[in-house]
Amino acid sequence: MRHLIDIEDLTDREVELVLDLTSRMQIRPASYMMRGKVVANLFYEPSTRTAASFHIAATRLGAAVYSVQDVVFSSIAKGETLEDTIRVIGGYVDAIVLRHPDGDAAERASFVSPVPVINAGCGTAQHPTQALLDLYTIRTRCGLDHPLNVGFMGDLRNSRTVHSLSRLLRRYQGIRQYFFSLPGLGMPEAEPCGITDENDKLIEDAIGDLDVLYVTRVQKERMPVGNWGAAPAKVTLDLLRRAKKNLVVMHPLPRTEELPVEVDADPRAAYFEQAQNGLYVRMAVLHMAMRAG
Ligand code: NCD
Repeated sequence: MRHLIDIEDLTDREVELVLDLTSRMQIRPASYMMRGKVVANLFYEPSTRTAASFHIAATRLGAAVYSVQDVVFSSIAKGETLEDTIRVIGGYVDAIVLRHPDGDAAERASFVSPVPVINAGCGTAQHPTQALLDLYTIRTRCGLDHPLNVGFMGDLRNSRTVHSLSRLLRRYQGIRQYFFSLPGLGMPEAEPCGITDENDKLIEDAIGDLDVLYVTRVQKERMPVGNWGAAPAKVTLDLLRRAKKNLVVMHPLPRTEELPVEVDADPRAAYFEQAQNGLYVRMAVLHMAMRAG
């Protein structure tokens, strides 16, 4: 692994290595594996968890971090191209973490970068480190060595986390995927569902069969104003009463009204643990990218 742009950049073996290294990072979340290194965190789009966890992951590995979160204060605001910024910053640091509104930004960056580029979510296309932390959470909660039914609910069209995770889960033969999208917000055609099922059922009818329920918010910022569709489907306590006792409720966060706070007290709610796993996964990914880079 050098750059991590698309979840498909990782072989099955590399995915296993990331997950195993992640559990080692979880046991010992401080080390000096990256002492003397510098990581650039370039965020051209808002972020809380991803930016913070990459920053803290690098710091816990002993590296220093250069962060650009507010592009208004950088030359990007003067019209500098992404390629020029990456070439220059790449000359100063050992790895670049990039979030950007354009789906092809991380790939474009990788063409010109002298150091490894890690995609921290670009456009609606891909968010590979989120997929890895989601997979790690599923492995920790359920195991991956037996059949699982995973349901995705909400805005599936614009959710890069769903696109990356769905692709990753297709590698596991026992995992069946079900999609419960809001009207007009189904999986894009560019994300063929492969061996998985495109499901017409309502979530209320299918909930009892699911082992994992992955909920997403409506990504209003990716839609024309006023075209936000119907009110989001919600995870309610009533819905959870019909679910398995060991269902795992996941959400990449931030949440809006689709996941009310009443659900937090339910032991099946895994989203804060999921967010915490992001730190360990990003430590593993940074370490692997720097070793290869
Ligand atoms: C997600 C993202 O940015 O795609 N957030 C995250 O990285 N945890 C999901 C979202 O913004 O809804």
